[in-house]
Amino acid sequence: MRTVWFMTGNAGKVREAKHALQPLGFDVVQLQVEGVEISEPQADDLVDVARSKIEQAIPHLPSPHDALLVEDAGLFVDSLDGFPGVYSAYALKTIGFNGLLNLLNDSTQRNGAFHAVAALWLDGEVHVSRGICNGEIAMQASGNDGFGFDPVFVPHPIRIDGIEYSTDGKTFADVDLTEKEMFSHRRKALDGLIQILNESKPASSS
Ligand code: IMP
Repeated sequence: MRTVWFMTGNAGKVREAKHALQPLGFDVVQLQVEGVEISEPQADDLVDVARSKIEQAIPHLPSPHDALLVEDAGLFVDSLDGFPGVYSAYALKTIGFNGLLNLLNDSTQRNGAFHAVAALWLDGEVHVSRGICNGEIAMQASGNDGFGFDPVFVPHPIRIDGIEYSTDGKTFADVDLTEKEMFSHRRKALDGLIQILNESKPASSS
C-alpha cells in the first residue's frame, strides 16, 4: 500500500481523506510536525495557502520519495461577499458557526459554497486540484457528525449519471461520511489527484 502523508492538525479531514483514498490502495497517515510552527499565510486564494504549506512541510517528510498531501478549505457565503472564505478557520475559532448564523440573521439570501484545494507533492512536483460544494447556510445548527461548519451547511442537490441526490435539507453534520462524500468539496479535490497517484511509481515508504 502506498503511503500518503497528510499534513493537517484536523482529525476530521484525516478521517475523510482516509475514507476516500484507503479503498483505492493508499495509506493516509497524518503528518504532524513536532515543534515547528507551519504558518498559514493570509492569502486571498486557497491555492497560495496550500502551496505555501507544501513548501514548509517538504523538509519534514520522512522520505523525499513519499507523497505529501495538504488541503485547504473555506466556506464562502454569497451575501457576505465571500466571508469567511480564507478566514474560515479564524472565524470558526472566534465567532463560531453560531456567529455566522447571527451575521445572516433571518436573511433568505443564504447561498454559499465550500471550496477545497488539495495539493500533492510527488516526485518533486506539486499537483493542485480544486473542489467546490454549493449549498446554503441553514437557519439553525443541526447534527453531531462532521466538524467545523458542518452543522450549518446544507448541500444543494446534485445530479450524478442522471440521478439526483439530496440530503433532503439535512446539514453535513446530520449525514454520515459516505453521504457527505457524495457532495463534498474535499472529495472532489482529492478525486483530481487520484489519477496522478495511481500513475506514480510506488513510494519507498509503506
Ligand atoms: P482549513 O482548511 O483547515 O484552514 O479550514 C478552514 C476552516 O473551515 C476550518 O475551521 C475548518 O473547520 C472549516 N472547514 C474546512 N472544511 C470543512 C468541511 O468539510 N466542513 C466543515 N467545515 C470545514
